[in-house]
Amino acid sequence: MKQGLNLLQQFAGTFLKDVNLGVILMNTHFELIDISDMACRLLGLVKEEVVHRPLEEIFANMPAEHQLVHRNILDGMVVRNHAISWTNNQERYELLVDSNVLRDDHHQVVGAYIMFKDVTNLRSLEEQVQRSDRLAMIGQIAAGTAHEIRNPLTSIKGFLQVLRKTLEDKGMDRECGYTEVMLGEINRINQLVSEFLLLSKPKHVSYDSVDISQVVREILPIINNEAILHGVVVQYESALDLPQVVADKELLKQVFLNICKNGIEAMGVGGQLTLTERLDMDERKVNIDIHDTGPGIPMFVVDKIFDPFFTTKAEGTGLGLSVCQRIIHDIGGNIRVSSKGYGTTFTVSIPFPQPLH
Ligand SMILES: Nc1ncnc2c1ncn2[C@@H]1O[C@H](COP(=O)(O)OP(=O)(O)O)[C@@H](O)[C@H]1O
Ligand SMILES: [Mg+2]
Repeated sequence: MKQGLNLLQQFAGTFLKDVNLGVILMNTHFELIDISDMACRLLGLVKEEVVHRPLEEIFANMPAEHQLVHRNILDGMVVRNHAISWTNNQERYELLVDSNVLRDDHHQVVGAYIMFKDVTNLRSLEEQVQRSDRLAMIGQIAAGTAHEIRNPLTSIKGFLQVLRKTLEDKGMDRECGYTEVMLGEINRINQLVSEFLLLSKPKHVSYDSVDISQVVREILPIINNEAILHGVVVQYESALDLPQVVADKELLKQVFLNICKNGIEAMGVGGQLTLTERLDMDERKVNIDIHDTGPGIPMFVVDKIFDPFFTTKAEGTGLGLSVCQRIIHDIGGNIRVSSKGYGTTFTVSIPFPQPLH
C-alpha cells in the first residue's frame, strides 16, 4: 500500500514535468500549489516564483476575458472545454480549459485544479477551412455577377465618352467636368469588379517560368510613382541569379503591387518601403520581403486581414490581400505577415521546381 502511494506521488511529480498539458493545482486559499512545466512555459511563469502565491496576484495584470482562473472554481464550478486565447511574448495561443474542485474522503473541498490543452494549431486549421469555404462561396457569387455588371458598364462608359465629346465641342466645360467625374467613378467600379473576378478563379491564367527579379523590376516604376505621391522612399534589395518559379507573371505583379500599395498607404511622409529578395535553398523557396515602417498591424486585426472585405480604410475594398492569398496559394506558396509593434513585413514565399538533370 505504502509502495503504491509512493509510486503515485512519483508519478504525480513526473507527470507535471513531462505532460504536454497545462496543469495548475491550488489550495482553498486560492494559492498556487503546483504547476506543470508546460503551463509555466506557455504562461511565461517561473515555477519557483509563483508557488505558494495567490493566483489573483500571479494573474493580476490580465484583462478579464483572458482570465484563466476565477475564484469561483473553489465554489464547485465545473469547467469543461472552455476556449480562451492567451498571449505571451507576442505569440497567441488558443487554449481549451477544464477545471474542477478536489475533495477529500469526507467530501470536503481541499483545493482545485485547472488543466488546459494548447489547441492553437487545430484552431487555425479550422479557421483556414472556414475561410476557404467563404472564399469559394464569394468566388461563385462574384463570377456570376461580375460580368453582369461589366457589360452594361461598358455601354454606359461608351455613351458617356460620346457625350463628353459633344459637350466639349459645345464649350460646356462644367458639364464636361461632370462627365469626367462619372467616368472616373465608372473606372472605380470596373476595378472593383476586376478584383471580384480574380477572387473567383480566373480562367485565363497562364503559368510559365518566371524570373521574379524581372517581375519586381517591371513594377518598380509603378511602386515608385505611388511612393512619391505619399512622400515615401522605396528601397530594392535584389538577389543575384534567383531560380525561376512557375507562375502567372501578371498575377504575380498584382500580388507585389497590392502588398506594396498597402505598405505605402500605411505609412506617412518619410516612411520607407523595402523590397528584399531572398533565396531559401533548404525550403526550395524564393522569398520576397516587403517591409514598411508604418504603425504595424494590431494583434486583433492581423487574423482578419486576409478575409475578403476586411478593411480598415474608408475607401478600401478589403479584397487586396485575399486576392493575393488566392494567387500565391494556387502556385503552392504562402504569404506570411509579421508585425511586432512597429512596421510590418509581408513575406511572399514561392517554391521553385527541382532542376532537371
Ligand atoms: N502594411 C500594412 N500595415 C498596416 N496595415 C495593413 C498593412 N497591409 C494591410 N493592412 C491592413 O489589412 C487590411 C486589408 O488589406 P487589403 O485586403 O489590401 O484591403 P484594403 O487595402 O482595401 O483595405 C487593410 O485595411 C489594413 O487594415
Ligand atoms: Mg489593399
